[in-house]
Amino acid sequence: MSSVNPFAVAGASLPDGFLQGFVVVMVIAVVVGTLFDIVHKGSARYFFANMRNARAKGRKVGGGDLASIAVKTAVVDVLASGEFCNTRRRIAHLLGMYGFVLYALATAVMVFCYSNSADSTPPIWPALWWIGALMVLVGLYWFWFFIRVDVSAEGHSPFRLVKADLFVLSLVVSVTLAVIWAATGARAGVVFWLYLLATAVLFVGVPWSKFAHMFFKPAAAFDKRVSRANGTAENLPTQTRDDPEQQKRHSMELLRDAPMDMGLGIKREAPRHY
Ligand code: HEM
Repeated sequence: MSSVNPFAVAGASLPDGFLQGFVVVMVIAVVVGTLFDIVHKGSARYFFANMRNARAKGRKVGGGDLASIAVKTAVVDVLASGEFCNTRRRIAHLLGMYGFVLYALATAVMVFCYSNSADSTPPIWPALWWIGALMVLVGLYWFWFFIRVDVSAEGHSPFRLVKADLFVLSLVVSVTLAVIWAATGARAGVVFWLYLLATAVLFVGVPWSKFAHMFFKPAAAFDKRVSRANGTAENLPTQTRDDPEQQKRHSMELLRDAPMDMGLGIKREAPRHY
């Protein structure tokens, strides 16, 4: 099963070029949806105006420092999902992110290079497709049922749906149907068409979902690091409680020498008081 190219099996009973055409339309939908999102929300205009403003107010950051910040952003924030403080959320994100990259890459290779003949597909591609799909499913079902705040902290049912769930939900439904379709023979039947429908919702839904965060977040993470380096820090406090300067600023005399773990109830105990 994991060595068969499922697109070659389904492709045998579909018109020539159908699968390739579908993938091209989905790529166009992501590009157009992301551009529409940027223009409609004015997010890029706001982002660059804010960045120019912060650069004008802060210290000058040299070329060498900017290069080092770019490397840290790529390695820590993008490749290692370093912005997540919660370890479980971070692992789930890493599974979802790397799984999706493997799954999408293997899909593109199998559809464009090998969908006409099942036998000629090098077995590495179906294997990567399965590994990627299973990583997405483990990461996203774990997130959906156990990690996300609505369920783990607010006590809502995992089956309650809101519009903000569009990205996670359409991705998980699309990959679940892909796996069921491939595991049950990969024919161009009902499950296949449902899989294409869920995939279309995932990619056409870009303007209404957080799909495009995978393009925006690296820029935002870079900007966050630059704003810390130039001292503006997005107007957020930079001192921690163990910093003597911060302790001096405390409004209550009594709390100036308070132990460091005092008042951090939110970190000691998960919020489950519903
Ligand atoms: C294939 C690429 C990616 C996929 C499939 C993906 C998937 C997801 C999912 C499902 C969530 C919601 C889960 C959660 O909030 O814990 C999420 C959130 C998040 N992702 Fe990604 N992601 C991708 C790429 C990236 C990249 C490149 C970054 C770069 C820094 C990033 C940063 C974040 C952050 C900071 C959040 C949490 C904050 C928020 O909800 O906006 N992601 N991602």
